[in-house]
Amino acid sequence: MILAPSILSADFTRLGEEIEMLNRSEADWIHIDVMDGVFVPNITIGVPVVKALNPLAEKPLDVHLMIVEPEKYIDQFADAGADHLLIHYEVSIHLNRTLAEIRAKGMKAGIVLNPHTNVPLLENVLEYADIVLLMSVNPGFGGQKFIENSYRKIEELVAMKQRLNPNLLIEVDGGVTLDNAPLLVSAGADVLVVGNSIFSADNVPARIVEFKRIE
Ligand code: DX5
Ligand code: ZN
Repeated sequence: MILAPSILSADFTRLGEEIEMLNRSEADWIHIDVMDGVFVPNITIGVPVVKALNPLAEKPLDVHLMIVEPEKYIDQFADAGADHLLIHYEVSIHLNRTLAEIRAKGMKAGIVLNPHTNVPLLENVLEYADIVLLMSVNPGFGGQKFIENSYRKIEELVAMKQRLNPNLLIEVDGGVTLDNAPLLVSAGADVLVVGNSIFSADNVPARIVEFKRIE
């Protein structure tokens, strides 16, 4: 399983040290939540912070855009050092084109589905994506409660992946804990994003090891 700690729950007064801690940890990717206060009711961080963290980070930057008109910012996030750019289905009018533009910039292209957005909608676009991120909370905040129907969505996506894009990575984001992580992995999740359940630990690297032990 690929583990992607979400720095939304990290200490923003010492983000550089948090990145260095993640470099030394067993974490695989670093998940960065970009919010615009329009698509979601919260504002977080953007291009300048990704740019500042990129030279420090020794692991891929998995950038989750919770913004409207994501296609306008592809070049900026590529130049800032994003390795994966994940955009929401709900705000993408020309998804094939936008995914192609993300790939052309050398990044992995990801589609994100809100909890209410149905997996079968991906039928005609799945082969153009590297990652599908299933939101298991309504995006906007860390520390929310996991929405239980996410397991069913993972299973639906596994079936579609086998048919259309066997190399696709299925990522799950929101409310992931040590309790539900084993169930998510056995349902077919390849990547788990974890914010609060990692950064609330007294010993964060040890908590990361606990997640990584899950098979
Ligand atoms: C929520 C973000 C998540 C968030 C997850 O909108 O997309 O990445 O940081 O945090 P937890 O694991 O605390 O739900
Ligand atoms: Zn996220």
